[in-house]
Amino acid sequence: MKWKDQLLNLTAYQPGKTIDEVKKQFNLEKIVKLASNENPFGSSAKVKEALEKVDGSFALYPDGYATSLRFALADFLKVAPEQLVLGNGSDEIILMISRALLRPGLNTVMASHTFGQYKHNAIVDGAEAREIPLTSDGNHDLEAMLSAIDENTSVVWLCSPNNPTGTYITEEKLLNFLKAVPKDVLVVLDEAYYEYVVAEDYYDAIKLVNQFENLIVLRTFSKIYGLASMRVGYGIANKELVTTLEPIREPFNVNTLGQIATETALKDQEFVESCKQKNREGMELFYDFCKEHDLTYYPSQTNFILIDFKVDGNEVFQHFMENGYIVRSGVPLNFPTSVRITVGSKEQNEGLLKVMSQFLEEKKAAVL
Ligand SMILES: Cc1ncc(COP(=O)(O)O)c(C=O)c1O
Repeated sequence: MKWKDQLLNLTAYQPGKTIDEVKKQFNLEKIVKLASNENPFGSSAKVKEALEKVDGSFALYPDGYATSLRFALADFLKVAPEQLVLGNGSDEIILMISRALLRPGLNTVMASHTFGQYKHNAIVDGAEAREIPLTSDGNHDLEAMLSAIDENTSVVWLCSPNNPTGTYITEEKLLNFLKAVPKDVLVVLDEAYYEYVVAEDYYDAIKLVNQFENLIVLRTFSKIYGLASMRVGYGIANKELVTTLEPIREPFNVNTLGQIATETALKDQEFVESCKQKNREGMELFYDFCKEHDLTYYPSQTNFILIDFKVDGNEVFQHFMENGYIVRSGVPLNFPTSVRITVGSKEQNEGLLKVMSQFLEEKKAAVL
């Protein structure tokens, strides 16, 4: 078959072990998964109520324009409904952008290390992925990224706050960057963790969308809204950009239950605010622990923290898993001595911190 050459060297996304697999393997009764930056508090109770009222007419296709959700979202964000593109998760919008703008002969600039789907899609579409190392404090090196742009650059990816470091781009730096990027290069600003941000010098992305015609902002209902299983993400850009991108979109890409769930969730901002607060409290526990045990970490504006244990990340991952906590090893994320931990509920955080203490004690004892 006439496969694209680049496909033959790619592997499919490897999901982590399921909770049931880990329970069986280690004979554990309870497993806590803090690996995928999901919301440990679930989603708004109003979502469950709304889904229970769904009348069961599943034979019909969804509203392809997601009209009701689109208008609710536009109203919430104070943008026009035509400025929104909805996706089956923001993953799908990344794919749509890549499909629309990348091809052999073009290149795309991104940080290294950042969310893996930018590079994955670039490879599938045959474009050169130019990866610019993060600065030593885990931030995008915007100057180096600017220098990497040439006449064949089509898309620049910014992840702020960045996965897996949790760091963010300040308003001043972002503004200077956007002013310097050529107008025929699309800047994608992935804000999957936007709702968790507490930094005061963070920018207002919606304002920037109205100022820069080559900017698209991506957000998702998978994180603080706790609706990862519903697969709904969205992009915000100017109308012309959205109109050009829309033909790439699958006609019925956002399913009916997802539309109902997310529109309902949007109305419960009290839930969002309480998750944000509890996440910060949890984050502080991890900061305190790291300071007490002299572990390096990146201060995070998200619901996860990347901690350097200075030993093989897979070993830390394995130890935590055997004790009932699934986190993400830093090895596949290119931080080989770290693990990335999603901040959980108070009880989950305290449980994991105990396991972390034990691990460090055992390591210390082994050295003595
Ligand atoms: C930075 C970033 N962007 C995008 C996504 C994709 O989110 P979704 O497709 O669930 O909206 C994730 C998920 O982990 C992420 O971390």
